[in-house]
Amino acid sequence: MFSNILIAVDGSESASKAFHRSVYLAEKCNSKLDLVHVVQCEVGGDSANTFEMIEELKDKAMKMLEEYRAEAAKNNVPIQIVIMQGDPAKVIIELAKAKSYDLIIMGTRGRSSFKELLIGSVSQKVMHHASCPVMVVR
Ligand SMILES: Nc1ncnc2c1ncn2[C@@H]1O[C@H](COP(=O)(O)OP(=O)(O)OP(=O)(O)O)[C@@H](O)[C@H]1O
Ligand SMILES: [Mg+2]
Repeated sequence: MFSNILIAVDGSESASKAFHRSVYLAEKCNSKLDLVHVVQCEVGGDSANTFEMIEELKDKAMKMLEEYRAEAAKNNVPIQIVIMQGDPAKVIIELAKAKSYDLIIMGTRGRSSFKELLIGSVSQKVMHHASCPVMVVR
């Protein structure tokens, strides 16, 4: 049923929770699981400094995703790592469409300290615009 799953993580506790659910589901459904982090860089321009900063963020992301991959491997769930750059919601929506995932899994909240809303803007946008089912883990 869910043979091709995308799990999006941002380093938050909520995303970690979602990740553990995705590993559980992937194991049960024998799914292919791709793990994505979108590096968000709000600094404009294409100076050497901006480039260096983005590369640093990508390295940091890679370390985080490798840790997740090792964790999933303990449950015999192989994971493919994807690091992208841009607006997280837009990138996740486009990636899901391009790769024909049949489920996207995310956390309700992310790393933002602004906790007024019940659900973060990235999850909300993906839920509204994704071309496949979205599971938002509470
Ligand atoms: N940069 C990202 N890359 C991949 N997934 C992300 C990224 N940012 C958020 N997510 C996913 O979206 C979920 C919800 O995070 P979201 O960013 O929507 O909430 P927030 O940080 O609390 O609020 P906001 O960012 O709107 O201020 C996360 O648990 C994660 O699954
Ligand atoms: Mg966020």
